[in-house]
Amino acid sequence: MSTPHPLSVWARNIAPSPTLAIDAKAKAMLAAGEDVCSFAAGEPDFDTPEFIKDAAIVALKAGKTKYAPTPGIEPLRVAVAERYAAEYGYQLAPAQVVVSPGGKFSCYLGILATCNPGDEVVIPAPYWVSYPEMAKLAGATPKFVLCDDQAGFKLTPALLKAALTPKSKLLVLNSPSNPTGAIYNRAELAALADICVAHNLYVLADEMYEHLIYDGHQPVNFSMLGAEVEQRTITVAGFSKTYAMTGWRLGTLVAPAPIAKACAELQSQMSSNATTFAQYGALAALKEKAKATVALAEMKTAFDRRRKHLHAELNKIPGVSCLLAGGAFYLFPNISSFGLKDVDFCARLLAQEKVAAVPGSAFGAEGYLRLSYATSDEIIKKGVARLAKFCSALKR
Ligand SMILES: Cc1ncc(COP(=O)(O)O)c(C=O)c1O
Repeated sequence: MSTPHPLSVWARNIAPSPTLAIDAKAKAMLAAGEDVCSFAAGEPDFDTPEFIKDAAIVALKAGKTKYAPTPGIEPLRVAVAERYAAEYGYQLAPAQVVVSPGGKFSCYLGILATCNPGDEVVIPAPYWVSYPEMAKLAGATPKFVLCDDQAGFKLTPALLKAALTPKSKLLVLNSPSNPTGAIYNRAELAALADICVAHNLYVLADEMYEHLIYDGHQPVNFSMLGAEVEQRTITVAGFSKTYAMTGWRLGTLVAPAPIAKACAELQSQMSSNATTFAQYGALAALKEKAKATVALAEMKTAFDRRRKHLHAELNKIPGVSCLLAGGAFYLFPNISSFGLKDVDFCARLLAQEKVAAVPGSAFGAEGYLRLSYATSDEIIKKGVARLAKFCSALKR
């Protein structure tokens, strides 16, 4: 009898998502009755608004249970195009819109459509955990650029230029950022866009958290920085974070027509359309603007309050320093003064104080924690007090 071959390099080289793993561990401890304060979640702690659920239920009952066109039902593609026009003045044909089974898949399509084996994908760190793995699955090489808290966790033109080689093909830009919450302003993006044009780079603009921006700042759509920028930009967004629809698995991608067509063709062989009746829920989210605005405002108000509270409390802890992030629902405090590896810090924090946090090294930045404040005010208060107690017992 022969032993089966080893699994493929794709299977062996992929790193499982550390954020999902820690979140799952915290949830399992909670389910076992342990008093865990989890800052590990990557999703809003709100439920999907009722009007969105109702629209999907109506669609389900009306028999919207069959295959749909791969890039999405036509009214949803039109509605996505309309919302880009209304929010950013970005005029798109519906053919430039691809609705996917999740923003994660949209990112992967964007990378697959543009990168060849051997190409380099420039990924500013701290980065969202999936980008490097996606680049590797496309046969490309991730090229990391560390942008620490001194740099406000943001890529600068100098850092970008220093990372470029003749093999550079794609830049991933995520604003607001998961894991740091950092947001780029228009001038910062424009300076990076000039370099992308000059060096003929594609850009994957992951704008998943575009509607979760605080302090009155406005989101900037990368494509709108100029015609030459638009030609090379794939914008990813979705419904997960804006409408608390993480489990629905619906994302979007908009791009110049040839890229969108390629993405739709890739999707046609990899997954087909995103769930048909779910797309009707997303359509309601875009069409019923008054209701959507109320639901989003409620969520944002809660996130903003928690953001400020958590930020203030973290900075009161001797040895911890934390920037006030402008978007998403994460803070990324620096814990390097304790001289512990962040993985060990998190393991001990969970074991001793039952506080779940994700180590910065999972995002390519050792010495930090990612704390999600998409959890109740009560958990935040209790969790940060435990974190303070834990830190006070550590040597510095
Ligand atoms: C930066 C970023 N991009 C994309 C996604 C993908 O979102 P989804 O696949 O739930 O639509 C996430 C989810 O955590 C994210 O944080």
